[in-house]
Formats: sequence, structure tokens, C-alpha cells
Amino acid sequence: MFINIKENINYAKDISIMMTEAFNSFYSIDDVIELINKSFISLGYIKNNILIGYAGLLYMYSNITFELHPLIVKSLYRNIGIGSKLLKEIEREAKLKNVLNIMLGSDDEYFKTNLHQFDFNNTSMSYIFDNIKNINNHPYEFYQKNGYKIAGIFPDANGIGKPDIWLWKQLV
Ligand SMILES: CC(C)(COP(=O)(O)OP(=O)(O)OC[C@H]1O[C@@H](n2cnc3c(N)ncnc32)[C@H](O)[C@@H]1OP(=O)(O)O)[C@@H](O)C(=O)NCCC(=O)NCCS
Repeated sequence: MFINIKENINYAKDISIMMTEAFNSFYSIDDVIELINKSFISLGYIKNNILIGYAGLLYMYSNITFELHPLIVKSLYRNIGIGSKLLKEIEREAKLKNVLNIMLGSDDEYFKTNLHQFDFNNTSMSYIFDNIKNINNHPYEFYQKNGYKIAGIFPDANGIGKPDIWLWKQLV
């Protein structure tokens, strides 16, 4: 069952635990409440009263293009379709609110793709787009399976060889 997290802010603690575990960085309950408050859409997925997934949309380019941040499924419940379900539902709600595009950045800080092997200064972006490979379960492929396209790569965004992969979907 989907719930509006803005109306169920008591789930902020669960979200802070999920984000801290998944993103290797500490998210306090206050950080999460701030994130929820500034979200355009804030969607949770509940099963047996347990929050097992969360998706948020943040303002990016006025009311036209929004950033998906974060999308997260509790680790025990991954790979059974919940991430895709959350994505479809947040896209459906966004479309009803006349959102045109969803963008997201998916960092590769731990060499999960082959992108660290490219010389970005001397290689065309189109060649790199065509030759990206998933080495160790980087989520960019999850997004591609859900209709997102790689719209850009920010080389060394998080340090040498640690790019951010930008993905985009138009809600047509
Ligand atoms: C990324 C995430 C949200 C995916 O949710 P999920 O519920 O596990 O994904 P689904 O079960 O809906 O997967 C749909 C498809 O994507 C694939 N997929 C899911 N995660 C993947 C990954 N990390 N790498 C490659 N493929 C992946 C699945 O195998 C499935 O493929 P199939 O349709 O061919 O069987 C989830 O793994 C997660 O919360 N990860 C930690 C947080 C995170 O990295 N969020 C994204 C930040 S950009």
C-alpha cells in the first residue's frame, strides 16, 4: 500500500535508517524531515505496517522537471519489484500534477561501472554512453529497465574516477 509520507511523518525514523544503510552516510531524523518537507511528492510503500520503500521528488526546474531523491527499498525486500512499483506510482502522481520530466543522479563512488576506466578529456561522450558497462550491480540499469535514459555523466563528481550518472525520463 502506498502512503503520503508528508501525512505520516512518524516514518521519518525508518527512512533515516534505510538511507544511512544504503548511502554510506549518516542521515538523522531531522535531515529526513527536512527532505520530506521540501519534497514535492513524498511516497512510502507499506507492507504489514512496515515501511519497506520510499521515493521522493524534489524541485529542480520550477514545476516542470523534478529530481528523484531518494528512491530506496529496504535491503531484505530488494529485487522483487518494489522499486519499480514505487517508481511507477510516483511517476503516475507526478504526471497528474503536470510534471514533464524526472531526472536523477546515480553516483558511482565504488567503481560499480567501468566509467573509471575512461579518459573523459580525450574520449567523446557518445562513445562513453555507448560503452558503459555494469560491473557490480550499479542501479543505473534498474532505471534503464524502467524507461530512463542516460542524459549525462559528470566525470569525477565525487573524486577521481567517481562519476555521477544522470538519468532522465519524460512523462509522456
Ligand atoms: C535501486 C533499488 C531502488 C531497486 O529496487 P528493487 O525493488 O530492488 O528493484 P526491482 O525489483 O523493481 O528491479 C527491477 C529490475 O531492475 C533490476 N535491478 C534492480 N536493482 C539493480 C541493480 N542495482 N543493478 C542492476 N539491475 C538492478 C532487477 O534485477 C530487475 O530486473 P528484471 O526486470 O530484468 O528482473 C534498490 O536496489 C535500492 O533501494 N538500492 C539501494 C538504494 C539505491 O541505490 N537507490 C538508488 C539511488 S540512485
